[in-house]
Amino acid sequence: MSYDRRVPDDRAEALRAILDQAYSPSDHPALIWQTEQWHVERPLDGARIADATPVFHNTLAKYVPLLAGGADLTVVLSPLLPHDPDTVTLLHEVGVPVTTRSPAGCDVALDCAGILAETPARLGYVELTKSGQHVYESSTAPVFLADDSRIKLIETVLGTGDGFVRGLAHFGHPDLNGRAIVVFGCGKVGRGAALAALAAGASVTLVDPDPDVRPPAVCSLIDAADTSAVRAALDRAWGVASATGIAGALGPWAEYLAGSDLVVANLGAEDEFGPDMPEHRVLNDKAPVNFALDEPTHLRYIDATMALHNAGAVELRSGAYHPGINRPPRAVEDDILGIVRRRGTIELSAIEEDML
Ligand SMILES: NC(=O)c1ccc[n+]([C@@H]2O[C@H](COP(=O)([O-])OP(=O)(O)OC[C@H]3O[C@@H](n4cnc5c(N)ncnc54)[C@H](O)[C@@H]3O)[C@@H](O)[C@H]2O)c1
Repeated sequence: MSYDRRVPDDRAEALRAILDQAYSPSDHPALIWQTEQWHVERPLDGARIADATPVFHNTLAKYVPLLAGGADLTVVLSPLLPHDPDTVTLLHEVGVPVTTRSPAGCDVALDCAGILAETPARLGYVELTKSGQHVYESSTAPVFLADDSRIKLIETVLGTGDGFVRGLAHFGHPDLNGRAIVVFGCGKVGRGAALAALAAGASVTLVDPDPDVRPPAVCSLIDAADTSAVRAALDRAWGVASATGIAGALGPWAEYLAGSDLVVANLGAEDEFGPDMPEHRVLNDKAPVNFALDEPTHLRYIDATMALHNAGAVELRSGAYHPGINRPPRAVEDDILGIVRRRGTIELSAIEEDML
């Protein structure tokens, strides 16, 4: 694939050269397309943008279109969010301002988990994650909720599933063929973990209290309240993963799991096993198992999410958004999804129904 490489910002050019060493253009087609458009249209010319996206190596790809589009970009680090110190050093070297303090103000806050909610943002906020949603629910400023999108499913279902399997391999379990795995939580992340484990040859049982969840076709679903059925599934299992998003959701099983030889992994942001489960009994000491990896989620699965987050800044500049939470317009998502389909390499069939 070829794309116009004239990027009128030295820092964008320097970041792009760094990215070229680690990624193929098909790993970040949406952000490259955004760069192509924005270096011509300059839709963020002079806009002061504060960006709190967790800084990992693949986040560099997000800054290229912002800089090419003319943004006056400041990267914000928060003690509440993870970051990779080597990538921060790279940003310093390239000349992108990085701050650990809350910026005095900006035009648009590209936020994550609501950490910039107290920073005055003249045009509004763009929130990346579900955990930031509640922070902005009563906001009097326009908020573009990138999380509430079809695009986000690429990251949460496919990307986290991929990270789950890579995380197990990282901890010495590369072969899932013929393994029986019980996944608690059949939401986006649990379904993605199940799909990836199935693709690696495992058999998967999902546990969820909600009878309306949609497990992948070949998986069985157990009601979380049916403790004897859950127990029977655990007795037959090789491994367990939690993806309920609720602290202590697996607390009732902590004693059983702690005394078993099951491989146990957390995928949720919280400690889903509760205080009775010793840290060492869960891979990565209870932190999400994929967070032990250099790249917890591969760039190709977060490319579209990061492009949508960036696009929120341009959307807010239009002045067309009302105070409070706004869902991304369908057309904005469709443009990005079209590029992912045409130029990317991700197999979207498993989530195609949700993409309509
Ligand atoms: N590891 C990662 O890279 C990563 C990426 C994205 C999200 N997450 C985290 O994963 C977690 C889940 O996110 P999601 O988007 O899938 O949430 P979700 O709301 O889509 O799904 C959660 C599911 O868990 C079910 N559930 C609730 N209580 C349960 C219980 N006691 N037993 C079994 N199932 C139960 C719910 O009914 C729901 O179906 C969150 O903590 C989120 O922050 C992690």
